[in-house]
Amino acid sequence: MKTTISVIKADIGSLAGHHIVHPDTMAAANKVLASAKEQGIILDYYITHVGDDLQLIMTHTRGELDTRVHETAWNAFKEAAKIAKDLGLYAAGQDLLSDSFSGNVRGLGPGVAEMEIEERASEPIAIFMADKTEPGAYNLPLYKIFADPFNTPGLVIDPTMHGGFKFEVLDVYQGEAVMLSAPQEIYDLLALIGTPARYVIRRIYRNEDNLLAAVVSIERLNLIAGKYVGKDDPVMIVRLQHGLPALGEVLEAFAFPHLVPGWMRGSHYGPLMPVSQRDAKATRFDGPPRLLGLGFNVKNGRLVGPTDLFDDPAFDETRRLANIVADYMRRHGPFMPHRLEPTEMEYTTLPLILEKLKGRFKKESDVYKAKESIYAKEEGQGHD
Ligand code: 13P
Ligand code: 13P
Ligand code: MG
Ligand code: MG
Repeated sequence: MKTTISVIKADIGSLAGHHIVHPDTMAAANKVLASAKEQGIILDYYITHVGDDLQLIMTHTRGELDTRVHETAWNAFKEAAKIAKDLGLYAAGQDLLSDSFSGNVRGLGPGVAEMEIEERASEPIAIFMADKTEPGAYNLPLYKIFADPFNTPGLVIDPTMHGGFKFEVLDVYQGEAVMLSAPQEIYDLLALIGTPARYVIRRIYRNEDNLLAAVVSIERLNLIAGKYVGKDDPVMIVRLQHGLPALGEVLEAFAFPHLVPGWMRGSHYGPLMPVSQRDAKATRFDGPPRLLGLGFNVKNGRLVGPTDLFDDPAFDETRRLANIVADYMRRHGPFMPHRLEPTEMEYTTLPLILEKLKGRFKKESDVYKAKESIYAKEEGQGHD
């Protein structure tokens, strides 16, 4: 039996701003998933949130991009969005870009990370969910987890991992993917994934046997909609242990709160702060960008767990550094590199401002001419 793990998420509206999912909307989604479980569409599920993003974690045997499973998720989001509208929640239905469902949720707004696997005797997994950032935010930690022995000693000392991992990197602008193998091609890999807004790690496979090890949601809402409609807060599934990175090697990559885009109005860089479920809500400057991690075991399609992976003093110093970095970045105010480059901003007034000032921009040479004539006049007047 093959098991599929589907993590599908959407922002369907939130309480008091882009802050936190309302429990009543989660209850509405729960009803839909409970009924799908009863009908045997899914085997098991867990519903949670990070910030204003509603997260559906589901298991089933129907494979990736399955119509019934995706329809279940879509209906859960629709029902939750209805409640959000009733309660007057902010940005109700934000990520549901279409009125009708057609086959699967890709391209309709929700983010999707799915993997179909042959369960190992013990199948530990970690699911990461982030708010106020984008899929490329996982590039740096994924590189550390699967290609950097200073993070993951298993790459050196575990015989099964010693052959390294393959990274499938998607060019989100061209819709083309390339497979690059580590350690052989790490410089090429880094040349691409160092531009995380464009080149996003989508899947990772073990070189030795092509075992699928990690999957990232790659929707970019701005590109889907043709105009920016919200940040595409990303989710990721990582398989753990026994010839794959240990849980602790995976978590270690998040001990450094690296800078990611997506803070405040989707238009600022800020540190990615790993938090517990309790702190999985956006506050300061609508952030800082937050990361929730849940650990499970999957057994015959059943989700055993979760454990709240960052609910631990071992990440206190990471959070403290993230807060110091947040202060430092905030002091730049509206200046880059705190504010994103113009092409990456969620919205901007720049074209309007340029239009308004059109008649007031003077050619540099004209400015000099004007100045020269002023000097000439002054000199002509003479000085006693
Ligand atoms: P496994 O090789 O059994 O996954 O354990 C690795 C380990 O020792 C974790 O630190
Ligand atoms: P979300 O993408 O999480 O809805 O946040 C929108 C935003 O810009 C908050 O400042
Ligand atoms: Mg929102
Ligand atoms: Mg969000």
